Amino acid sequence: MARLRKVVFPVAGLGTRFLPATKVVAKEMLPVLDRPLIQYAVDEAVDAGADTMVFVTNRYKHAIADYFDSAYELEETLERAGKHELLATVQGLLPPHVRCVYVTQEQALGLGHAVLCAKPVIGDEPFGVVLPDDLIVNDGPGALRQMAERAAHGGTGVLAVEEVPRADTGKYGIVDVGTGGDRIRHMVEKPKPEEAPSTLAVVGRYVLPARIFDLLEAITPGAGGEIQLTDAIAQLLREMPVLAHRFAGQRFDCGNKAGMVRATLHFAAADPELRHLVAGLQGG
Ligand code: UTP
Repeated sequence: MARLRKVVFPVAGLGTRFLPATKVVAKEMLPVLDRPLIQYAVDEAVDAGADTMVFVTNRYKHAIADYFDSAYELEETLERAGKHELLATVQGLLPPHVRCVYVTQEQALGLGHAVLCAKPVIGDEPFGVVLPDDLIVNDGPGALRQMAERAAHGGTGVLAVEEVPRADTGKYGIVDVGTGGDRIRHMVEKPKPEEAPSTLAVVGRYVLPARIFDLLEAITPGAGGEIQLTDAIAQLLREMPVLAHRFAGQRFDCGNKAGMVRATLHFAAADPELRHLVAGLQGG
């Protein structure tokens, strides 16, 4: 498998768990300290070697495009005020060789449908998918880079997985890798704890071959008209090896309030100016 050049960010969901904030602000623009979730996600994709960021947005989410666009007036004001450090920050959100492409998902018909919307931009090459609300922190290579490296050696799809408490299997796609291996034998979407084949959950990082688009196109939408990515991956497993990658790093589920608070505390604890606040909280 060639280098992972293109990464898709499906950001067209409604973000209902963060209403009312998400009435006007995309969930992915909510900040952990001073950086929006989408920035952490894009940084991880750049770390993995990607140079084309494909954002699948809905028609209300202009903020993401505005965020990555140049802001001439702001930059001029910072320049005149001599605020060079801030100027470098707003000018350095993306390395110069990276380009952004925006695709609209007209209706929120599920994650699989959102990925399918990126087909014309991806073409015939393997690509990454990053869900920005799963924020993964690692001191070494980022989770997507770890996965791209495995894909480069195996020529297959790779899904990021993590052990979860059995009580939580109903929130995730759960994979079965048999004993001791990492090749996925089958995958079930949100099984009840007593029916889950394991407690190995898929989290928001995927490396997929372009073949996934054909499989997504062939899916008949389930209840609510949604096209699930899991259903297409379940088909893919029958055709080629798809690996479960137990990533090195710590994941924060920033799709809910508790995960967002944990991520904020994590980054605050590492910030010289804020760490005393976290220590104060821990001291009660
Ligand atoms: P979620 O299940 O977290 O849904 O989507 P959501 O709408 O973002 O948030 P809640 O549950 O209402 O609070 C998982 C990912 O898939 C994207 C979302 O943007 C998120 O990154 N998605 C989901 C789409 O892009 N389109 C869809 O139709 C559905």
